[in-house]
Amino acid sequence: MQGEWFETIFDERYPELFGPLEGNAEKEVEEILALLAVRSGSVVVDLGCGRGRHAIPLARKGCRVTGVDLSEKMLGIARTRAHMEGVSVEWVREDMRVFRRPGEFDLCLSLFTSFGYFRDEENQSVLDNVGASLKEGGTLLLDLRNAGKGLSRLENWDQTIEVPSGKLRMSMRFNRRTMRAMAEHVLIRQDGIRISSTFDVRVYSVDELETMLAHAGMRVKNIFGSLSEDPFTDESGRMVVVSVREQEASSRR
Ligand SMILES: C[S@@+](CC[C@H](N)C(=O)[O-])C[C@H]1O[C@@H](n2cnc3c(N)ncnc32)[C@H](O)[C@@H]1O
Repeated sequence: MQGEWFETIFDERYPELFGPLEGNAEKEVEEILALLAVRSGSVVVDLGCGRGRHAIPLARKGCRVTGVDLSEKMLGIARTRAHMEGVSVEWVREDMRVFRRPGEFDLCLSLFTSFGYFRDEENQSVLDNVGASLKEGGTLLLDLRNAGKGLSRLENWDQTIEVPSGKLRMSMRFNRRTMRAMAEHVLIRQDGIRISSTFDVRVYSVDELETMLAHAGMRVKNIFGSLSEDPFTDESGRMVVVSVREQEASSRR
């Protein structure tokens, strides 16, 4: 059965194929708490929470965390880990194009490029849902690949690295017409077994995101080049966009 790419690749292959690129999630959570001055007791949703790398440490820090993901396999890993560590997180299997809980959250996190997987209208729906689900004054943090770095210079790249289980070949191809990046990861294990997967992500510019976020009732407050508040430049590897849910017109004075 062939589904959309994002319905099929987030399975047991994912940690081997993408784990080597992941940062230290515990450290990233510390950085997020500092960057956004998150208070204990904050109500947080991690959209595309995966294996709960960030949701679990956030809950341990005293946040009330909901982790949303489409992949039952990823959620299964998250549930097991949370159970073993005695941490309480609400795990929800739902599509982020649909997930919406009006006015419930202080903070929405979208980490490690978990946004941009769909058609433009659907990506907009994700942001519209976030806008509706945040409290007024609530915050959205989008941690994305830096569009400037890839798209302005059209840098395709290939890289092979040694990882504990073998050789990991990564390639990135940008399509200027669709403004999408295709990232292919191929792992050749020491036993000769080859596994691979391909990401297909719409890479948005800052201007595009500002427009989409405004449509969703949010305003961009800051853009950083990393979760540790590096300045954002064309050379930044990441684009960390912090937006705030505007007040409803009816509740403004
Ligand atoms: C790149 S992974 C990042 C996971 C996690 N944020 C992390 O940093 O480890 C993206 C996640 O988004 C989830 N995902 C993909 N499509 C989704 C959808 N339509 N709705 C909800 N989650 C989705 C995947 O299952 C996967 O766990």
